[in-house]
Parts: sequence; C-alpha cells; structure tokens
Amino acid sequence: MADYVLAIDQGTTSSRAIIFDHSGQPVASGQKEHEQIFPKAGWVEHDALEIWANVREVVAQALSRASLNASDIAAVGITNQRETAVVWDKNTGKPVYNAIVWQDTRTQKICDRLAGDVGPEIYKDKVGLPLATYFAGPKVMWILENVEGAKEKAEAGDLLMGTMDTWVLWNMTGGANGGVHVTDVTNASRTLMMDLDTLAWDESIAADMGIPTSMLPEIRSSAEVYGHDRKEGLLAGVPIAGILGDQQAATFGQACFEVGHAKNTYGTGNFMLINTGTEPIPSKNGLLTTVAYKIGEKDAVYALEGSIAVTGSLVQWLRDNLKVISSAPEIEKLAATVEDNGGAYFVPAFSGLFAPYWRSDARGALVGLTRYVNIGHIARAALEATAFQTAEVLEAMNADSGVELTELKVDGGMVANEVLMQFQADVLGVDVVRPKVAETTALGAAYAAGIAVGFWSGEQDVIDNWAEDKRWSPSMDTGERDRLLRNWKKAVTKTMDWVD
Ligand code: G3P
Repeated sequence: MADYVLAIDQGTTSSRAIIFDHSGQPVASGQKEHEQIFPKAGWVEHDALEIWANVREVVAQALSRASLNASDIAAVGITNQRETAVVWDKNTGKPVYNAIVWQDTRTQKICDRLAGDVGPEIYKDKVGLPLATYFAGPKVMWILENVEGAKEKAEAGDLLMGTMDTWVLWNMTGGANGGVHVTDVTNASRTLMMDLDTLAWDESIAADMGIPTSMLPEIRSSAEVYGHDRKEGLLAGVPIAGILGDQQAATFGQACFEVGHAKNTYGTGNFMLINTGTEPIPSKNGLLTTVAYKIGEKDAVYALEGSIAVTGSLVQWLRDNLKVISSAPEIEKLAATVEDNGGAYFVPAFSGLFAPYWRSDARGALVGLTRYVNIGHIARAALEATAFQTAEVLEAMNADSGVELTELKVDGGMVANEVLMQFQADVLGVDVVRPKVAETTALGAAYAAGIAVGFWSGEQDVIDNWAEDKRWSPSMDTGERDRLLRNWKKAVTKTMDWVD
C-alpha cells in the first residue's frame, strides 16, 4: 500500500525531492544545488544534464532518508522554475546548448524585433504576457538562431524543446527510449506561445519565432497521469501525475481556490498570484495573466501574477559577489544592527525590472548614500527591497482586480526572516500569514499528483490540511509608510535607461 507522494521541485538554485504523507506533512527530503553559469553580463545558464543527474540524486536521498522505495510512493508530482528553456536532440538526449534561465536578458534584441512597430503588447491579448526577455519562447528562438546547425536539425524534426518540467519528465519516462514529451498548461502559459483561451499552442506566434511545431511538447492538464518512471528508475513504474510551475504549485499548496485568494512566494525572486476564476482577466497595471492550475478535465483556473526578478538572489549576491555575509540567514543579524535603512534604497534591477514596470533596460542601483550609511543599513536596504517591490505588486493587484486584499499568504525561504515579515506587513498595510508547512511549492505539486491518482479526493483535502503558523499585523503609522514608499519609487526611477 502506497502511503506517500513524492514531489520533485526543480528550482533556480537547487533541485529537491520531498516526500509527503496523507496529512500533507513532509517526511523526508533531498536537495542539491547546481551551478549558476554567467558567461556574460545579463546571461544566466544552467547545465540541463547536471540538473537531471541532481534530480535523480535527490530522489535517492529522500527515499533512503525515509527508508522507502517505489512501492511506497503513490504518485510523483513535478514543479519547476518556470520559463527556463532547454533544447535537446531527441535521438541522443543531449542538449544542444545550456538551458537559458528565466533571469537571462540576452533576448532583448529578439524581443524588439518581434515587437516591430506594434510594441511589447503584440501578443498580450492572446497569451496574457508582454514580450519580455523573461519568457521561454524567445530563448528557444535565440538557441535556434545562434547554435550552429540547430535550425536545420529542428527543421528535420530532430530537436525538442521544453521548460524544466518537460525536461525532467522526458528523462524520467525513458528519454531517447520513448520519453514522454509533455508540459502542463501552467508552464506552457509562460512561453509566450500558448493561447490562454484554447490552452493550445498558437502556431502563428511559434512561426514568428521560427520554432517548428514538431519541437513543442503536448500541452496537458496539471493533474493527470502523463507516464511512469522508467524501469531502471528508482521509482520504476510509479505514475508521474502532476505538473505545475513552481509559483502555481505554491498557489495550489496554499489552498488559494477562491477568486481573490492570493499568495506571495519569497524565493530567488518573488511571485504574487491572485486567483481570478475560470476566465482570464487582462491586466492594465503591469501584471501577467497566467493559468493557475487545471485539474484533469475540470475548467482551467486563471490568475493575475506580479513577478519580481530579484529578492532572495540579492541576498545571495551580497554573499557570493560582495562577500559581506558568509551565509544567507546572516543578513537578518546584520540588518538588526541598525534601526532603519539610514536613507539608503537598493533597487536590485539585475535582470531589468519585472512587474509592474517591465523595463529590460533597467539595471540595479543603490541610492541615498551618505558617509553615515554602513553595511547594516545596506543589509537592511537589501531586505526592504523585497518588501517594497512586493508592495508595488500588491498596489497593481488591487487596481486590476478592483478588490482590496485584506491578507496575504506567504511562503518560501525568506519567510523565516522575522524582521522582513514584520516590515512586509508594515509597508503593505495588511496582515501577512505564514502556513505551518512552509514547503508549499513542493506540496502543491504533490497534491496535484495525489489528486490525479485518487490519493487525495480533491481541493477540500488541501483546505483541510492547511494550517496557520504565524501572522504579522501592520504596526507602522501610515505617514511613515507613505514616506518610505515615495522614496522607494524615486529610487526606482534611477535604474531606468541604463542599457541602450
Ligand atoms: O518564474 C520564475 C520562477 O518560477 C522561479 O522560481 O523559486 O526557482 O526562484 P524560483
């Protein structure tokens, strides 16, 4: 009798496997970081083969730590960093180039070319997204245009493309020996090529990008059996039955099932999603329209999303590039050595600015400096940047949805940071609520897979298992809040027009 579900979370900095029991509690996990490859300013790549090897390793770690094997696992769910694109040869299983990561800005010229005289909104009515370097389609276009021989091979039908869910699933289900080439609606909705109404590829956009349809995975729901782990796999024969992009998985794991329910995940970047129901709602305020989830044959549920490229990765940058801290959690101690930001504001526009600005030409800025400012103030400004960017996204969400959010469910690594969570509630002016199980991303993918195979009966089980851990309420006076947000917006204006 299989009593557990295993989720694979293929993230931006690491791959993880987490095993959950029927009450949604994690029982064991494995984790491994992969190399971040920065060949040039603005370029970010991953080695897709390294990632696949890591995925296998973390699954083995999780199973052995829990003393379980394939027969104990009812289903596998996959969740992943979204938009990161890989192109590989279907006959050899070898990528033709490193995976190009969602943070990478090399496709700016390609995006300008596609936008032509119409501008970055050219495909927005169909796909819900502005034309920006963030999304997967133009990354595939770059590979086909820049890797020798790729275009010809693609046209001959030898190449496949995928986001990381598709890459992991294809390899798990047999790779060059019969691997299943599938993605789900949530990942497909981040390629700039999926029609949001029909949930099918828009062949005219794929043609604009020079991407043959033979390269595209089949688009399926987020909860159904796509295939089984290959017979040599540690999970041989176990159904792979859930796929959700990581932010949609967190939305699902946070039980955001009603219109107006929202969550914010604090990872390398921050991503706030609000459930908008079964019709896609276009944004007028710099948010993305995206698919939240589709459970089997049921209607797709949509979301508005505010994506912020750099939050946790700013802390990593302080650790790895400036070496002012030796581990990420140290930032909290450093920030606690000062009362406030000392007048410093840090806008981490390292990948341009995402929501609500969508300015690929922006680059990071640290402003408001005087001789008074010390490293504690800069640490504080780095943490505050996460909260200010989130406040701007919430403003856009209230404007787009016409409803004022009254509380925000949060998850992800940075929600352990108490200083940040209090400051977040202060600048948002609403309660910030953390659930007991902080691993909501992996949990969401586990739920999708478990629901598909009948391990859980449906969304009500997710609601029943969700429990509040801690709540932070705003305690800052509104005058101070307005002053801080005014200064932040002024700092943001200093980052634009850096790249020509
Ligand atoms: O859209 C990018 C997002 O999916 C990445 O999430 O958690 O890997 O930073 P994360």
